[in-house]
Amino acid sequence: MLEQVRCAAVRLESEMANGRIVPAKVTPEEIRSHLARYDFTEPVALEEACADVEWMLRNWHVQVTHPRYFGLFNPSVTHASIIADTLVAMYNPQLASWRTSPAANEIERHTLAWLGSKFGFPADASATFTTGGAEGNLSAVVVALTRAYPEYGEHGLRRLPSTPAIYLTGEAHHSFNKIAHMTGLGRRALRTVVTDSNLRMDVEDLARQVAEDRKNGFAPLMLVGTAGTTAAGAIDPLPDLARFCRSENLWFHVDAAWGGAAILSPELRDHLVGIEAADSITCDAHKWFSVPMGAGMFFCRHAEAVAAAFHAETSYMPGKTDGPVRDPYTNSTQWSRRFIGLKLFLALAHHGESGYAQMIDHQTHMGNFLRNSLECAGWRIVNSTPLPLVCFTRDGLDTAAFLAALHERQIAWMSEVRLNGGPQVLRACITSFRTTESDIEWVVEEMNRLL
Ligand SMILES: Cc1ncc(COP(=O)(O)O)c(C=O)c1O
Repeated sequence: MLEQVRCAAVRLESEMANGRIVPAKVTPEEIRSHLARYDFTEPVALEEACADVEWMLRNWHVQVTHPRYFGLFNPSVTHASIIADTLVAMYNPQLASWRTSPAANEIERHTLAWLGSKFGFPADASATFTTGGAEGNLSAVVVALTRAYPEYGEHGLRRLPSTPAIYLTGEAHHSFNKIAHMTGLGRRALRTVVTDSNLRMDVEDLARQVAEDRKNGFAPLMLVGTAGTTAAGAIDPLPDLARFCRSENLWFHVDAAWGGAAILSPELRDHLVGIEAADSITCDAHKWFSVPMGAGMFFCRHAEAVAAAFHAETSYMPGKTDGPVRDPYTNSTQWSRRFIGLKLFLALAHHGESGYAQMIDHQTHMGNFLRNSLECAGWRIVNSTPLPLVCFTRDGLDTAAFLAALHERQIAWMSEVRLNGGPQVLRACITSFRTTESDIEWVVEEMNRLL
């Protein structure tokens, strides 16, 4: 099985390297009419259905694992992690409780404890795999509210003595808007803190807003520092934010959904200093750890608060197992759950920490190479980050038209973004450990030909 999955992955990689990155234009009607053959009245041979699904995925799909996909943190995936996901589907372990899948639970615990210690978290911290970064961020807000207001769980926000507020920059991930909505805090509970010229949080503005909120009867609850913002890869000044949270008694959450993997790189990890002081961290394995979708992580140093936030008891679930065991369904937002952590475990076991550091450093070097090549070719870089994410433009550029031509000619996949309310610029993020200098040289040459 292992060899078959590996061969299929290798075949796809080599075919893809010479194929399309961006699908031909397709309409929902075309896809729906193609799918009409599946009315499910008669069985279809599995080989036939699989071949058809692969055809659809090849033709109607942005190929995010292509070495010239410079996109939205969707990575190329390691063979070990593909094999892991196949094994999980085969065995289908139920991760809700420890008793039903002791091995899977311990594999996850082991992997998370290792990574948590890299972030400087204590051994007794809580850590769970999530569906992604949005769930990690949601978990952080629910746990912070539960810890600050024990009555929140039973009575909801209406019993709180004052209205909580959350501080973040306009560059923080927009999942917090939905989270403020879903938790009942309301989107207006979010306070947008000003950023400096490098899109990092301005601590003076933060202090001013917190003081003003206190004066006006609001209850500052949480500060979100981002380590690798989605648009521009900015890293907020984590040590300053940690100090501020300590002095103001705020929950310090670090959203390191993408940038967290830098903790494994000796070249980059200093940029994450301050993360060890966080109350909670979001970090996604399905971003820079190069494993397939559906693998986020939530770390929290207050295990008792996590258990209080997500506690549940029913007669139909197995009782808690004696010993140092935390059932996932009583320590996370999820109930029945896939064995998410195996893909990270197997990839770490296969590549080792040094292999991971190499993959991350390689992508960082490719980011630097792209930045320099663009500058030499007359482009203007408009963001500043040590991470491999480059935002750039040039005078008079129509970004939408330029991107359309770039995609049409299959040169690369990139996106456009607006930083700090400015004009649209191009955004290119190295997300594949297979991207090479010659890929980048070719892309920059072809881009200049398009002008
Ligand atoms: C900084 C940051 N936080 C959170 C998220 C949300 O993660 P997910 O899409 O895995 O839910 C993203 C997604 O790109 C992100 O960039």
